[in-house]
Amino acid sequence: MRKRLIVGNWKLHKTASEAVAFVYRLSALAQATDDVEVVLAPPFTALQAAAQAELPAFPFALGAQNLFWEDKGAFTGEVSAPMLKELGCRYVILGHSERRRIFGEQDEGINKKVQAALRHVLRPILCIGETLTEREAGQTDRIVTHQLLRGLEGVAGESLAAVAIAYEPVWAIGTGQAASADQATAVHRTLRKVLAERWNARDAEPVRILYGGSVTPENAGQFLAAPEIDGALVGGACLDPQSFATIITSARARQG
Ligand code: 13P
Repeated sequence: MRKRLIVGNWKLHKTASEAVAFVYRLSALAQATDDVEVVLAPPFTALQAAAQAELPAFPFALGAQNLFWEDKGAFTGEVSAPMLKELGCRYVILGHSERRRIFGEQDEGINKKVQAALRHVLRPILCIGETLTEREAGQTDRIVTHQLLRGLEGVAGESLAAVAIAYEPVWAIGTGQAASADQATAVHRTLRKVLAERWNARDAEPVRILYGGSVTPENAGQFLAAPEIDGALVGGACLDPQSFATIITSARARQG
């Protein structure tokens, strides 16, 4: 049984002091549990503060929102896997559609980032998803399969367990127009089949496939009730401690 994974992608929100306040508030609202893993992914500048604010009563893992594939060198403005490891990060979100669209990231570079993360024992959360035009043209499966296989190129079967995939349809991100649980389920089935065909069913089995795109406290339960959906990558609704705590509780309810 795959452990549910609930990830809060803070994007460009919250200073270090706001992050500390958020962690204390969240830990008062959300209950510790062994059956759901919670990841907070603040901006780089708040990682250390969030790590230090971690309370034993509410364990969470820390995630970064990006990294650069080289460990060090003349790469002004970049942050590497060893730097994130030392701050206590266990996860890193890679290939988010905002990075693809606004910052021009492409599959080849995203693949190098996935490899760098795995080399340094950081768990990549590889984001993939189609645009509305692609969905309307019936291209969803082709696009997500391509992004999945290109993003994971060269990854050994035994490393797959460390990888999570986030299916985030671009048209659902920040729009309030979440995919339906049925739409997400269909894509998740395709993704797991592709993983099993490219590697094998045993290596594909532990990979967690999350849904992201306008997940809210109101709709989270619908996604998390589906056996194919192993968790959620939450944007807007993770910024409010009460909303995020409610989403975490939805994942717990699904478990039992
Ligand atoms: P929203 O939940 O705000 O739609 O964002 C989703 C997302 O991009 C998470 O990575």
